[in-house]
Parts: sequence; structure tokens; C-alpha cells
Amino acid sequence: MAESEDRKKELYPLPLASSTEEGGRLDEQHNMLKEHLGGLFPCPDVVAQVMAGGEEQTKSVLDLGSGSGVWCLDVAHQFPQAQVIGLDTAPNLQQTKLPNCKFEIWDINQGLTPFYGQYDIVHMRFIQGIVDHHAATIEAVRCLKPGGLIVFLRAGGNVTEDRTTMVPAASSRMPDQSWYQRFWCFAELGSTQRGIPTEEYDHDYQQGFWDHDGIDARTCGAAFITVPIGTWVATSNPSETARLRSIGDFWIKNLLRVSKVLAHVMVTSGRSEKDVEFLRAHLEKELQEARIRSSMLIRAIWGRARGLGDASDQNQDPAQSGDVTLPALSNEPGKYRITTIFDSKAAWTKFNTDLVSTMTPDTKGLRTIPGFDPIEG
Ligand SMILES: C[S@@+](CC[C@H](N)C(=O)[O-])C[C@H]1O[C@@H](n2cnc3c(N)ncnc32)[C@H](O)[C@@H]1O
Repeated sequence: MAESEDRKKELYPLPLASSTEEGGRLDEQHNMLKEHLGGLFPCPDVVAQVMAGGEEQTKSVLDLGSGSGVWCLDVAHQFPQAQVIGLDTAPNLQQTKLPNCKFEIWDINQGLTPFYGQYDIVHMRFIQGIVDHHAATIEAVRCLKPGGLIVFLRAGGNVTEDRTTMVPAASSRMPDQSWYQRFWCFAELGSTQRGIPTEEYDHDYQQGFWDHDGIDARTCGAAFITVPIGTWVATSNPSETARLRSIGDFWIKNLLRVSKVLAHVMVTSGRSEKDVEFLRAHLEKELQEARIRSSMLIRAIWGRARGLGDASDQNQDPAQSGDVTLPALSNEPGKYRITTIFDSKAAWTKFNTDLVSTMTPDTKGLRTIPGFDPIEG
């Protein structure tokens, strides 16, 4: 099911990573995420287990939608015995820098047959151009060796300072709420209208890999990661405060760059240019004034392929339904919590249900009702 170049452009809204500007933006974004997470993976302990023994035995890593290629290069550098390959519909500018890293042009929507069964790690981060997310996930799992690790990351919307509530989207009736949230909802609705089912992506991320055929549920995990938007964070440690503020400052600039491109996407999904410009101007003002103390939320999910375990290698979540205890979510005074890890499906799905239930009906409507008025609603 090869797609025409025009169709690919339509499905994936951002500029090609091969352009110097977008490639540079993705490099900077990657470096900031690495700084924020303290590394290349949200689950470094599992990665260490999977990559152990790489001195004797070549390990291999597959990155789906590798963008500028910078994540692949960093992984190739960190694990010199591993072979790293990045797939993307667009070429990038980094073809020859390390001997254990290469890139191929490949559309994930075609399936991943040539890559089946060969990888210790399959990674996918911030991809939007996939038409059938369930099918792509099944394909990605098929690329794993027995015991191999799959790791997916996706950004979505903004949450309040205390990390437990979705910030309501602004409108002219509620101008003090978040124009950034409103902008995000529109961008997602625009993607859905262009054939990328963002609700399906969300559903997959909110379920994690626990019930996935081919994945050993005992090895699954998920992370709720928050990135401050703006320079509002104050912690009891001045150097940590400075670090988080420079990250927050970067994300303002990054979101403004992305918003310029997504404005065009919204126009193509039926918004008038005037409305989109109005929205973008409010977003810019909100971000520059640091009016709302919010964080961008990122969900990360992971799990290891079956095949290494014993006969009881069954998909059973150790936590029973009923009373589910969530790990700590809120920031404590003087501290900014970056990551909360979940090791049970029951806790992860409860967390997601609770968080999504804090979306106001207007905010939910923005993401799901085609033609919902962009400003007045
Ligand atoms: C926002 S960038 C993220 C790049 C990289 N994963 C990162 O985190 O820096 C998304 C990348 O996915 C690629 N992409 C989108 N749809 C794709 C598809 N169907 N197959 C392969 N690559 C795709 C785009 O070309 C783009 O380079």
C-alpha cells in the first residue's frame, strides 16, 4: 500500500527532517529531552538488561520515524557494539557519521516485513504520520528478537502545575484558560480529519503493551513524563531550578516554531486563516507571558517480547482490579517531578482515566467534533 508523495506530505504535517531548519529543531528538541530525562530512554534499567552482553554478541536497535537521526547517532555512540538503524519517509543529513549507524527511507504504513525478528530494541518517538496505529504497533513488535524491548513515546496536551488535571482550553468566553491547550486540540482534530486517527493513538498509549500478543506483561511499564512550559518552576535547589527553567524556556520557543507549521495544518482542515491567526497570536502571548504554570505531558510505554521467559510467560497483570494505588503524581513543595513510573496496567489505566476525566466537556469537544467553532466554543 505504497502512498504517493503528496499523500505522505498530507499525512505528516511538519516539514521534512531533511530541511536544515526542521532537522536543527529536532536536534535541539532531542538534546533538551535527553537533558530532561537524563538519558536516551524512559526505562534505562530495562535497556541495560536488554543490551547486556553486547561485547560478545552484536545488538541491534531499530528507530521508527528517526527524523533528523540524532537519537540513532546518540544510541550508536552509547552502544558502540550495537548496530543502529533509523527508518523515515524522509532522508536526513547525518548519513555517514558513525560506522554502526545507518538510515533507510521507509514508510511504516507499508508494514515492516524486511525487519522482522532482528532487533533487541525497537523505538518510536513523536510520530504522527501513521494511518493505522494498531497495525503499526503489531508490526513493530514483530521486529523484536525474543526478549527484545519495544519503547514508544508520545506527547499530548498540557497539565496543571500539580500534574493531576488537564488544563481547560480557552475560548473567547474563557480567555484566561489555555490557548495552548486549544491549539493542541485543533491540531489533533486536524490530524484526525486528514486520516491520522489521533484518538486511536491515545487509546494505545493509555493501554500500554500489557495486553499485547507477543509481549510479556511482566516486563511492561509506562511513564508519565512532564516538561515545564515556561520559566515558572521553582525548586529548593538553585541549579535544578536553573536547569528546569532553561528547559521550560526552550519549550516555549519550540512550541512557537511548531505552531507556525500547525497553523497551516489547521487551515487545511477547514479553519479560516483569520481564526487560526487569532488563535496563534493568543498562544504566543500566553507562552511569552508565562501566564499558565503548566507542563507538556509525554506518555512512554514499553515491554519485552515473549520467548525468553518460563512456561508461565502469560499476560497477567500482577495488580488486581479493585483498589488500585497510584504512584505519586503531584509535585511536592520545592520539587518538580519529571517522571512517574507505572509497573501495573491497572494503575496506568486508572491514572489515564482519572486524568482524561478532568478534561472539560469543551476541551473534549474540541478534539472530537468536526467544525467545532475555533474561538467562540
Ligand atoms: C516529529 S518527528 C520525530 C523524529 C524523531 N523520532 C525524534 O523524536 O526526534 C517525526 C518523524 O516521523 C517521520 N514519519 C512520519 N510518518 C512516518 C511514516 N509513516 N513512516 C516513516 N516515518 C514517518 C517524519 O518524516 C518525521 O521525520
